[in-house]
Amino acid sequence: MYLQRRNRILRQSPAIRAMVRETILTPNDFIVPLFIVEGENIVSEISSMPGYFRRSLDQTIKEVRELWAMGLKSVLLFIKCEDNLKDNKGTEALNPNGLMQRSIRAIKEAVPEMCIMTDVALDPFSSYGHDGIVENNEIVNDATVEVLAAMSVSHASAGADFVAPSDMMDGRIGAIRQALEENNFSKTGIMSYSAKYASCFYGPFRNALDSAPGFGDKKTYQMDYGNRIEAVRETLMDIEEGADIVMIKPALSYLDIIREIKNAVEVPVSAYNISGEYAMIKAAAKMGWIEEDKAILETLGSIKRAGADLIATYFAKDAVRLLG
Ligand code: PBG
Repeated sequence: MYLQRRNRILRQSPAIRAMVRETILTPNDFIVPLFIVEGENIVSEISSMPGYFRRSLDQTIKEVRELWAMGLKSVLLFIKCEDNLKDNKGTEALNPNGLMQRSIRAIKEAVPEMCIMTDVALDPFSSYGHDGIVENNEIVNDATVEVLAAMSVSHASAGADFVAPSDMMDGRIGAIRQALEENNFSKTGIMSYSAKYASCFYGPFRNALDSAPGFGDKKTYQMDYGNRIEAVRETLMDIEEGADIVMIKPALSYLDIIREIKNAVEVPVSAYNISGEYAMIKAAAKMGWIEEDKAILETLGSIKRAGADLIATYFAKDAVRLLG
């Protein structure tokens, strides 16, 4: 048989395959989400996320030192708010001595080079478990945006390098940018969850932070998974309003959206390999149905290949170890 072109030539040995590989993961690709709780000396496994932990601040600092030593350079902070501090307006989110603000300061002091990103949304602080203020069973936009802007300034003044609004309210990026400028935080970045879908795959995370919505769902603010063009519109608007990095979330059921946005924008694109995506791999591996290590690298590789410059993932440490 005579063939002009044989594609298998480039696949015949590990050396050749390595030479022509298009997508290469590095520790610089990863953002490490951290869950912080009140207390001391606490490292408690999240039942729906085996192998992932909630830590008190002292233990979080130890973890951050370890991450830095491994070459992981950015963390995304989430805190678990005590129940008695929750209310409809998320008042505790603005407390200059709240757990988030204390955590930012302590991590900055311990590992100043680490890039600290912070979650900005009301759900961990909301007595309703919603990302915004509730009035007459509705999540109201504009009043929520005011709190998100104040929350961002509060995180910036504690030392956050990036604020990461994950709420999907309209106009919040512009409002946050303006508030940061007005308060002289001209170096604080905004990583916007621009295309965040209403997804069943957030379940394990809501369990981790005890932040499941108390009524209804999040479909009036998070996007419908049937939509693609809307994701581009959301993202372009966020960039216009001042987002430095845009994010697509979840990642795996949305690889097409990641590519679509990567082709449409000229800012770094990130994707969030979320809790349900983590839990599925863990569960299948535990059953002996897939090989966990290979699944981790293939999954993260697919997200990067789709177009993500950055990946927030609970597998960051595993990946760094596996990449060796
Ligand atoms: C909410 C928020 C969620 C996640 C990050 N921020 C969940 C939600 O929208 O209910 C999910 C992260 C994950 O599932 O890993 N502001």
